[in-house]
Amino acid sequence: MDFSKLDPEALMALVARMTKVRTAHGVIMPLAIVVWFPLGVFLLRLLNMKNKVLWHTVWQSFGLVLLVTGFGLGRWLSNKAGRSSEGHTILGTVITLLFILMPIIGWLHHRHRVAKGSQDFKRHIHVWGGRLLLLLGFINGITGLRLSKNKNSAYIAYGVVAGLFGVAYAGVWYLKVVKAKTKIEETELEQTAQHK
Ligand code: HEM
Ligand code: HEM
Repeated sequence: MDFSKLDPEALMALVARMTKVRTAHGVIMPLAIVVWFPLGVFLLRLLNMKNKVLWHTVWQSFGLVLLVTGFGLGRWLSNKAGRSSEGHTILGTVITLLFILMPIIGWLHHRHRVAKGSQDFKRHIHVWGGRLLLLLGFINGITGLRLSKNKNSAYIAYGVVAGLFGVAYAGVWYLKVVKAKTKIEETELEQTAQHK
């Protein structure tokens, strides 16, 4: 956008609007990626209830609404600020598009497991793809903070929140996934020993 064609008043108004949009984008995107989506995973792993996959779906769908809203704000900002070819903008766009595919693959995996009682590559794509997207989204948040030349305090706040959720994610993964796998393997070993 050519700012030199704007009169001073219009320029001031645009700059004020861009500041507001930048702040909203800078809050909504990290909120979706660092806080909301991980909470949707904790819900799935920690809740001991019948409809937990449904709750996971509802929760993550709202996360997608947050993500797409933040994406729209980022798109507007990148057009106004001439940032369309920045790495942050391009990677952010790719990440957003891949997140939109997550419910489809999650649902295909769930349908396969319910129908056949087993799991295949779709589970790995949903689970590991989701984890990778969360990591890439976190890294993209750092490049966003760099692009906007933020103060150290913003990096610290981002790092602390992401660190807390990262540690909690790893803890939940260890407790629920690794321990459950070990238990299944132990039971299988016991059963094999009994049959000998
Ligand atoms: C934007 C939407 C979604 C996101 C970001 C998302 C993200 C994730 C992530 C990251 C995991 C891995 C959890 C872990 O690390 O332990 C996961 C697991 C899972 N998701 Fe989703 N999910 C979404 C939508 C859905 C939908 C729509 C369904 C199904 C109807 C679904 C079903 C599942 C199931 C069944 C698991 C457990 C997989 C297993 O351990 O076998 N997800 N999801
Ligand atoms: C994938 C997740 C993304 C995250 C976590 C993220 C995060 C951030 C953060 C934290 C900021 C700093 C905001 C501030 O200073 O208050 C920022 C700035 C920005 N982001 Fe993103 N963002 C993402 C995706 C995108 C996308 C998809 C676009 C565009 C299509 C985009 C465009 C921008 C622009 C233009 C800026 C401002 C640069 C400037 O100050 O001129 N971002 N982002």
